Amino acid sequence: MKNIPFNRHRRLRASAGMRALVRETQLHKEDLIYPIFVIDGKNVKNEINSMPGIYQLSMDNLGAEMDEVVSLGIKSVILFGVPFDHDKDEQGTGAFHHNGLVQEATRFIKKQYPEVIVIADTCLCEYTSHGHCGVVEGEKILNDASLDLLAKTAISQAEAGADIIAPSNMMDGFVAAIRAGLDEAGYEDIPIMSYAVKYASAFYGPFRDAANGAPQFGDRKTYQMDPANRLEAFREAESDVAEGADFLIVKPALSYMDIIRDVKNNFNLPIVSYNVSGEYSMVKAAAQNGWIDEKAIVMEMLTGLKRAGSDLIITYFSKEVARWINEDN
Ligand code: PBG
Ligand code: ZN
Repeated sequence: MKNIPFNRHRRLRASAGMRALVRETQLHKEDLIYPIFVIDGKNVKNEINSMPGIYQLSMDNLGAEMDEVVSLGIKSVILFGVPFDHDKDEQGTGAFHHNGLVQEATRFIKKQYPEVIVIADTCLCEYTSHGHCGVVEGEKILNDASLDLLAKTAISQAEAGADIIAPSNMMDGFVAAIRAGLDEAGYEDIPIMSYAVKYASAFYGPFRDAANGAPQFGDRKTYQMDPANRLEAFREAESDVAEGADFLIVKPALSYMDIIRDVKNNFNLPIVSYNVSGEYSMVKAAAQNGWIDEKAIVMEMLTGLKRAGSDLIITYFSKEVARWINEDN
């Protein structure tokens, strides 16, 4: 007897047109959030060694970058500040200066490009002399003492015009503290995009060059999550939802696709995955060696993140991806 398959799955793969017709997941430019590092000083455009194509930019170079971002069709950016070392202190007070880096960059972007959504990363590590995300006592990272500083930071960012506050520091109760602070200051309409599920990851390595924010002692394992844990992600997401988060971030992305799916299935908020620096650097390095097809790899990775449940993706590849999407349409 001839072996005749009953199910012929290949029927729906027979041509580009047929494949497009049945494609389940689509990556849109609207899904992309582009990170920008704003550095102190004038006329600075430092390419980050470990992140080819990504720069530390001083304020006077922000216009050119934003022109490109906007012309490519990217709708939102997330801002990180890189202050001078001599401006850092124990408390990270630079994070909430009225004329701080993120605050000034936010004012500039909202004035020149009012339609762009500006997301302010809210943390202390770039501004503390010890490089931790909260205040320290000896070698201990203090939880509750950090909350007030975070709320102050969020308020100063909202004051500058930030559309979304994105706290990344992983102290317990940070969403509640920031929500209360924002509400009290009259910013009850500003949403919080919480780095709810953030693992203590080696994939952040290159970011610490970019933001010059590596901890000067110890590591972040007492506040960021253990990569081996899944149930802990539910606890983190649950508490942030209860505290008033409007978006949930899962970070890193590629080694945590199961967690992205879990969070998507169990919480009814927009889910954001952060395709972090190390994930970017690995692809760039392999591409520069001619070992992989960069466009195909990046599109497959980001489509995979969407398929896993991401509604939005924070990625250093945003500009390339927007360019590829534009070219292909
Ligand atoms: C700091 C912060 C980090 C990242 C975003 N905010 C680094 C860290 O927690 O050590 C990582 C981003 C990346 O690697 O691309 N709060
Ligand atoms: Zn931090």
